[in-house]
Amino acid sequence: MPPRRAALQSLTRPQSVDDDAFDIIWPASATRHSERHWTPVDTARQGARLLCGNQQLRVLDVGSGVGKFCIVGALTTRSHFTGIEQRLHLCQTARAVASEHAIERVRFLHGNAGNLDWSAFEAFYLFNPFQEHLNPYDDPIDDTIPLAEHRFHAYVRMTYGKLMSLPPGVRVLTYHGYGGRFPPDYACVARERSGTDFVTVWTKVEP
Ligand SMILES: C[S@@+](CC[C@H](N)C(=O)[O-])C[C@H]1O[C@@H](n2cnc3c(N)ncnc32)[C@H](O)[C@@H]1O
Repeated sequence: MPPRRAALQSLTRPQSVDDDAFDIIWPASATRHSERHWTPVDTARQGARLLCGNQQLRVLDVGSGVGKFCIVGALTTRSHFTGIEQRLHLCQTARAVASEHAIERVRFLHGNAGNLDWSAFEAFYLFNPFQEHLNPYDDPIDDTIPLAEHRFHAYVRMTYGKLMSLPPGVRVLTYHGYGGRFPPDYACVARERSGTDFVTVWTKVEP
């Protein structure tokens, strides 16, 4: 079996999947930042399962990078995954990998998550997407966007506002949080140790 097909196949087995072995589905230039900026494959699989279970949800990955969470999620659950990514080249890489392997139920949008209507989704993933604005010199993804602390605070406020506006029942998965709190009408419903932190699922409860 070709190595990249074998890497994708490895997701179907219950054993832990090695990130270096799995990451060969992306060009090497896209995985230079894998350890720090992209979700570990085991965590993506565990988190997607915790978020979706056996349901068919419409999931938005806020800041999808090269698409690692969405691709693993689409291959291991029944849900539909949309990634939104502000960096065009990362979005194009994610689209190319999904297309090359004919991965279904996944799509990637280029743009700022703040400009997207989140009400089209029932579930969300937040892997600390705005952190780079606080540590701009610590292994940056690239220099294609301006990094500034005030942007971190603006994006956290934007996310809080979006979470407030969503209807009861929505589910949100975090890994390393998102930099802010959850509105008071969200409850933590699941939490498991994973990777270098926890995967945590929050849901908005009825008033
Ligand atoms: C920590 S990486 C996570 C990538 C992906 N979710 C994963 O888990 O593999 C965060 C990503 O969010 C993107 N990002 C940050 N702020 C964004 C925004 N406001 N709109 C869209 N993308 C954003 C960054 O460019 C980066 O690729």
